[in-house]
Amino acid sequence: MARYLKPAIVFALLMPWCWLAYRVYLETLQTGAGLGADPVEGLIHYLGEWSLIVLLSAFSVTPLSRQFKWPMLIRSRRLIGVVAFVFVAVHTLVFAIFYAELKWSIFLREVVERPYITLGMASVVILMLLTLTSTRGWQRRLGRRWKQLHRWVYLAVPLALLHLLWLRKDGYTDVFIYSLWAAVMAAERIHHWRGGRREKQSRLAKASVSI
Ligand code: HEM
Repeated sequence: MARYLKPAIVFALLMPWCWLAYRVYLETLQTGAGLGADPVEGLIHYLGEWSLIVLLSAFSVTPLSRQFKWPMLIRSRRLIGVVAFVFVAVHTLVFAIFYAELKWSIFLREVVERPYITLGMASVVILMLLTLTSTRGWQRRLGRRWKQLHRWVYLAVPLALLHLLWLRKDGYTDVFIYSLWAAVMAAERIHHWRGGRREKQSRLAKASVSI
């Protein structure tokens, strides 16, 4: 079972890209309707949805591996996190090419003037930092600070959710589902953290009694 887990995850992560390639193929070479009535909007929405789904999947790895006692899942955490960043980066790139016409002045103006872009960009910057420092080399170099730095994911996830909430004008069902998903995973982490603290306090109390 453990042997097939990583290939299964790689396969699952490749599927949305294959589907996107097929839709782009239809759009450009075939019927011209692969990405919907507005292809750029279709592309940015598709990449945005998958950015969030893969980001939340990466955020779920630790709680799930703990609750279901699947330590081998942890080995795929970095891979899922990196793919989440690739989705977000391409989503941002599509914005930079088609909305900002690759002009820094337009891009920066959008970041400053549109709150939902500001929130999305803040999340992207954090995720970029986490991706760049996700290697073993950086883990060794940063030592204890590595864990502290990677806690910034607790900010990146709500910022991404706020980005979606802010840009939506109606139809909040998916926002609710994504937020519930993030909240359940955050609750598990808090529960685990509090359990760890209680254990540490009782160990300290026992040690002081024996002295
Ligand atoms: C972690 C970062 C981000 C995530 C998870 C994310 C996710 C999403 C999602 C889920 C949507 C809505 C898709 C839909 O309605 O079907 C969306 C739309 C969009 N995002 Fe992002 N996004 C992120 C960052 C950014 C950044 C940095 C930019 C621009 C610089 C950006 C630009 C847009 C635009 C222009 C739309 C479409 C808005 C509209 O329909 O009016 N996003 N994003």
